[in-house]
Amino acid sequence: MKNKELIRQAKKHGTPVLFIDHDVIRANYEKLRKHLPRVGLYFAMKANPEPQIIKTLFPLNSGFDVASLQEYEAVLGNVPAKALRGHKKNDFIWDKIIVANTIKPIATLKAITGYNTLMTFDNPDELTKIKEHCPDAGLVCRLRVQNVGSVVELSSKFGVEPGDAANLIEKAFNIGLTVEGLSFHVGSQCCNIDNYLNALEASAQIFKEVGKRGFKMRLLNIGGGFPVPYDGNVPDFEGLAKKLRKEIDRLFPKKIEIVAEPGRFLVATAATLVVEVVGKSFRDNKWVYYVNDGVYGTLSGVIFDHIPYHFSSFKRGEKKMSAVVGPTCDALDTISTAEMLPELNIGDFLYVKNCGAYTNGSATTFNGFPKAKIVNINA
Ligand SMILES: Cc1ncc(COP(=O)(O)O)c(C=O)c1O
Repeated sequence: MKNKELIRQAKKHGTPVLFIDHDVIRANYEKLRKHLPRVGLYFAMKANPEPQIIKTLFPLNSGFDVASLQEYEAVLGNVPAKALRGHKKNDFIWDKIIVANTIKPIATLKAITGYNTLMTFDNPDELTKIKEHCPDAGLVCRLRVQNVGSVVELSSKFGVEPGDAANLIEKAFNIGLTVEGLSFHVGSQCCNIDNYLNALEASAQIFKEVGKRGFKMRLLNIGGGFPVPYDGNVPDFEGLAKKLRKEIDRLFPKKIEIVAEPGRFLVATAATLVVEVVGKSFRDNKWVYYVNDGVYGTLSGVIFDHIPYHFSSFKRGEKKMSAVVGPTCDALDTISTAEMLPELNIGDFLYVKNCGAYTNGSATTFNGFPKAKIVNINA
């Protein structure tokens, strides 16, 4: 959206307001498909749970990576009725959902048993739960892989050590479960291609070892992590994809289905947040602007996602070092201590680009401030 239109829309809807452009989501999806044509995509809903995104991606043939029963039900509730018509519990679109949380509450397993859902696991206790409460699941063994240099590290919490994976998979088959394949996650906003290359190599070894033991797997899930160009230091996606394509084809025969669970890459660049200056104060030799959304709201990614967000002004004028803070009564609610901005007045708008991933999804209403309104464009 051009600046004039952004201001007009912000005035119309009120601030704070998050504009999500679905044409950008479609373009990001097509870009992934074009550069990784062998890789089927499950959108990781945790990156942005806005229901309209499910409606946009489903017709493009996207699947969905869900982390909870609530996200699972959100998919069921937002795909077109005709896609579900005639589907009964036992023949549900199992290629459309993967429960990619290695730890699932028993109530969740009970609720989705009968749907033949794909789900990840990484420990024997989870296998026992699945055997008892959701034995028809197709299992995907998540590996612990290197997350070096990724902005959000995940390996401290998830994944079986590659050296222990074959034994765990054998155990699953021996108790009557079906292991469809392997998954890994190299860490979110991964700018280190070696993380992917090492994980692919480790996965290929495990495919071989499991095969030697007489068991067949058919699927490799390469997770998410595809980096978004928040700044100029991020490696270009085309180069990364080229290396990935080559390595996947070298290590995995065509009969192995390759899928991924991208979150950030599909949605980050699709959203722009507009906030309003609700107060200002000259402190520590710079202007501090208090705006009506912050770290407890849409810019929660400053804390949870380790992403620094930067503000742009619609106003011209000499730029001075400034700070921008959120509206709550907590000093942690500091969005940026170093923004170059012209002097602003109360009521002026600021905007933040590339605000579509891990933002509204982790926003709270701390201090009673409502979450930003979401406005879907080109939906
Ligand atoms: C299991 C799993 N899959 C996929 C994703 C999405 O990753 P990204 O947003 O980096 O693509 C995440 C993010 O935390 C995850 O935990």
